[in-house]
Amino acid sequence: MERVLVTGAGGPAGVAVIRSLLKRADVEVYAADMDGWASGLYLVPPERRRIVPRGADPEFVPAVISLCAADSLTVLFSTVDVELPPLAARRSELGGAVLAAASLATLDVTLDKFALSERVTGFARVPTTRLVGPASTAEEWTFPIIVKPRRGAGSRGVRLVHDRAALDALGVDETLIAQELLPGAEFSVDVFADADGHVIAAVPRTRTRVDSGVSIAGRTLRDAELESTAADVARAIGLTGVANVQLRYDAAGVAALLEVNPRFPGAMPLTIAAGVDMPSLALDLALGRELPSRVEFRELANVRYLEDIFVDPSEILHSDNAAHDETDG
Ligand SMILES: Nc1ncnc2c1ncn2[C@@H]1O[C@H](COP(=O)(O)OP(=O)(O)O)[C@@H](O)[C@H]1O
Ligand SMILES: [Mg+2]
Repeated sequence: MERVLVTGAGGPAGVAVIRSLLKRADVEVYAADMDGWASGLYLVPPERRRIVPRGADPEFVPAVISLCAADSLTVLFSTVDVELPPLAARRSELGGAVLAAASLATLDVTLDKFALSERVTGFARVPTTRLVGPASTAEEWTFPIIVKPRRGAGSRGVRLVHDRAALDALGVDETLIAQELLPGAEFSVDVFADADGHVIAAVPRTRTRVDSGVSIAGRTLRDAELESTAADVARAIGLTGVANVQLRYDAAGVAALLEVNPRFPGAMPLTIAAGVDMPSLALDLALGRELPSRVEFRELANVRYLEDIFVDPSEILHSDNAAHDETDG
């Protein structure tokens, strides 16, 4: 029996991973969150629910290391952005547990949108991207352009800059990037690569309705250009396992890179239902099992509704942590 811990149990990605793994007869699923009211905790039996510190807390990784030992965990899934780099940096200290996440180098390059644009250039179409300062001032832009944080999430701080005067007014700020505007339609592609970086599946989908940064309605789409562009991006960053590659069409109608989220997206249930159970594949990858060389998917749409879990109030775990950080997907 594999004992698998999933963190971020209160988020839609955490719930999706937990529900996928609960279908496997060879797995005992443990669920963790910083908040005792996190819904996914109550999808697993009481003795498998755990409270952990906030991901940015220096005590987070030590607490997870202790859980790995105490619960004899074999695989660890983190579905929270801020938890991934500190866990990946200490993945060899997790006892017998394997962290089902990309390498620290891959995480680092995706979490910095400027580094990502440099890395992927030559592998796939990347919009012109410059650090705000001398490099952005020297560029011959067609306005308007996009300015956004180099390390951002949930569309926070994304703005349109309409002319050179507005760009110059930003001065030198290397926490920001200036980027060519991609005026076309936007797609999210859930990608899964094996241990050698070979892409097993790339599932493009729309985010037709979004609530609190999470896609709650959309559809998968078979599209050779979107699938191959996302696979090229995955190869460029040395992806193993799951990532969500966001693409948008440029003025010439070519699919170009917006960003990569190196984790399970909140919309994972659609990708699973369309035929690619990425949490289950990620578990097999972590366990070193043989993976198929290709998994097909079909076109499928989803709409989402809230569902309740009812438990005795005494079952709610105690936590003194505040609310979650927002993520998108
Ligand atoms: N270069 C761009 N052209 C057009 N729209 C953009 C561009 N960059 C960002 N956006 C818009 O802003 C949203 C958030 O940007 P993104 O790069 O995905 O950062 P994050 O999701 O991490 O905040 C995108 O989904 C897109 O709608
Ligand atoms: Mg995004």
